[in-house]
Amino acid sequence: MQNDEYPPSEDTFFIANNIEHEKGDYALDIGSGSGYLTKLLSENFSFVVGTDINYTVLQHQSSYKTNNLICCNSSDALKIKFDFIVCNLPYLATNEILDIATDGGAEGFEIPKKIFDSSLKNLKETGKFIFVTSSLSNYQKLMDYVEKLGLKTKIIARKKLFFEELILVEAIN
Ligand SMILES: C[S@@+](CC[C@H](N)C(=O)[O-])C[C@H]1O[C@@H](n2cnc3c(N)ncnc32)[C@H](O)[C@@H]1O
Repeated sequence: MQNDEYPPSEDTFFIANNIEHEKGDYALDIGSGSGYLTKLLSENFSFVVGTDINYTVLQHQSSYKTNNLICCNSSDALKIKFDFIVCNLPYLATNEILDIATDGGAEGFEIPKKIFDSSLKNLKETGKFIFVTSSLSNYQKLMDYVEKLGLKTKIIARKKLFFEELILVEAIN
């Protein structure tokens, strides 16, 4: 497993700017990495959990250290229902998974699909799921898949970068 933590980046800050006013009781940050978004959620939610598949990264959190970290795929280990779930997905379209922090597999769909298959059971009936994807990935396929799983999706923000556009999607029941 890689040691490298994904440092807070353009996509992290893009998500952060769009979720800073969310509040409630239970929040989940899937793929918590450095803990930047988990920590932000801790300001407005009473109980926050972070999960990451990379144990080494969780173990070495430093600047944005948080509690309630669990090493698992998506939310496989959790039975709690959350008011709010955020995920800075590994969304890049790649032929292989060489970097688990960023590589989403075929069409940028393969790894996000695994994450949704696990985590939608953890969203409250009234909850909200926010995730980021990219114009370079097949984001429509991803949104269609989440709809097939029973949620309504809509694009709530876009951010143009030099070579791609980041796309923030909201999914609700
Ligand atoms: C793009 S980084 C985001 C890190 C941090 N949340 C941020 O916004 O800066 C994606 C993170 O997801 C984790 N990850 C990748 N696949 C995962 C999976 N199937 N389940 C849980 N975490 C996963 C990676 O280890 C990495 O820390």
